[in-house]
Amino acid sequence: MLQGRLVRLRAPTRDDLPRLCEFNNDLEVELAGGGDPPQPQALERLRAEFDQRVSSGGREGASFVIETDGRCIGQCALFNVNATAQTCELGITIGDKAYWGRGYGRESVTLLVDYAFRHHHMHKVWLRVHAANARARRAYAACGFQEEGRLRAHVWSDGRYDDLVIMGLLAEEWQQRHTAPA
Ligand SMILES: CC(C)(COP(=O)(O)OP(=O)(O)OC[C@H]1O[C@@H](n2cnc3c(N)ncnc32)[C@H](O)[C@@H]1OP(=O)(O)O)[C@@H](O)C(=O)NCCC(=O)NCCS
Repeated sequence: MLQGRLVRLRAPTRDDLPRLCEFNNDLEVELAGGGDPPQPQALERLRAEFDQRVSSGGREGASFVIETDGRCIGQCALFNVNATAQTCELGITIGDKAYWGRGYGRESVTLLVDYAFRHHHMHKVWLRVHAANARARRAYAACGFQEEGRLRAHVWSDGRYDDLVIMGLLAEEWQQRHTAPA
């Protein structure tokens, strides 16, 4: 659906689930991604959740698989949509570690943010990231996200506390970055 130079963002299908399950059971990927403490995840559970979402027809937010060369390498999404303020949260995981640090995340975030502003008329896209996740923070900053705040020693991850950093990008900042000078 959204085509970049390196990646294509498209709807997740049931066929993606074994690959996504692999990623969800990779401790390093899970710890980097933040959120709830890592838990073993059965493919059956992932299938049941997928089927439930499809049958309930829920359309809150937008979820994409990140594909390159016909292969699913991760997923990304817009969620926590606030229809009044026109804000949404962004999340991304490249689960295939062979693709870390090679620009795939940056391009996926760029496509997703462009989608949020262009097609959903969002005012702001924001995200949460662990302070220790230098790779993610650098990729987000390269896309124009700014640090807006920090909750000190707020998350417990891998046996220690870490700060939770909030980053945000406003529509006008995005437009300025993508409008060629006259
Ligand atoms: C975070 C993530 C989406 C970033 O995507 P990516 O494709 O790896 O990142 P990119 O290559 O686009 O950009 C990474 C930047 O960090 C730099 N970098 C790479 N490894 C790094 C490291 N270990 N420490 C600090 N910086 C690092 C890269 O050089 C690059 O910056 P540069 O282009 O200015 O040199 C991806 O790594 C990922 O999904 N990781 C696992 C889950 C996760 O962390 N999710 C985010 C949760 S908020």
